[in-house]
Amino acid sequence: MEIKLEDLEILFTEEQIQQKVKELAEKMNNYYKNEEVIAICVLKGAVMFAIDLVKNLKMPLKMEFIRLSSYGTGTVSTGKVHAVDISLPDLNDKNVLIIEDIVDTGHTAKFLMDFINNNFKTKSTKFCSLLDKKISRVTDIEPDYYGFDIDDKFVVGYGLDYEGYYRNLRYIGYKAIV
Ligand code: IMP
Ligand code: MG
Repeated sequence: MEIKLEDLEILFTEEQIQQKVKELAEKMNNYYKNEEVIAICVLKGAVMFAIDLVKNLKMPLKMEFIRLSSYGTGTVSTGKVHAVDISLPDLNDKNVLIIEDIVDTGHTAKFLMDFINNNFKTKSTKFCSLLDKKISRVTDIEPDYYGFDIDDKFVVGYGLDYEGYYRNLRYIGYKAIV
């Protein structure tokens, strides 16, 4: 499958995304109150979401960035998670909030939750994903927070890429079947 800009159909507009981000932030503000949070952005896909989300969070917060990759090429999940850079500070006793773009098979989410819980005794570890593609799930992982449910579509934009492209779109789109 090849994806061209002119083939893209809008799934979520910029306004819908921004509204959802605010709703998620509100839930987190209510949950964490004034407790410190370490927000971990999973590069590269979650970058737009993480930046917009943290701007709406009110508790004392630190940001960390890690880089993982699971998709080799194209639109088919390999199921193998590759840690490109997973250097993190001491997370013992911290409230850890992992921020991802999408949970698809769940391999990435599971890898990260296991990695953190095996290496640290955190105060809490929560997983937040903008998108949840439940139909593709092959692991028993569920995000603690998610923005939108999507069906079996390969989506791009707002951080999500197709072979590295389209991360800069303000909306989330998918290739319409023509
Ligand atoms: P999982 O490990 O299969 O859950 O896949 C998670 C990762 O695959 C995400 O962090 C994305 O980078 C990528 N991914 C999964 N579905 C899509 C999609 O529809 N568009 C773009 N990237 C995707
Ligand atoms: Mg990703």
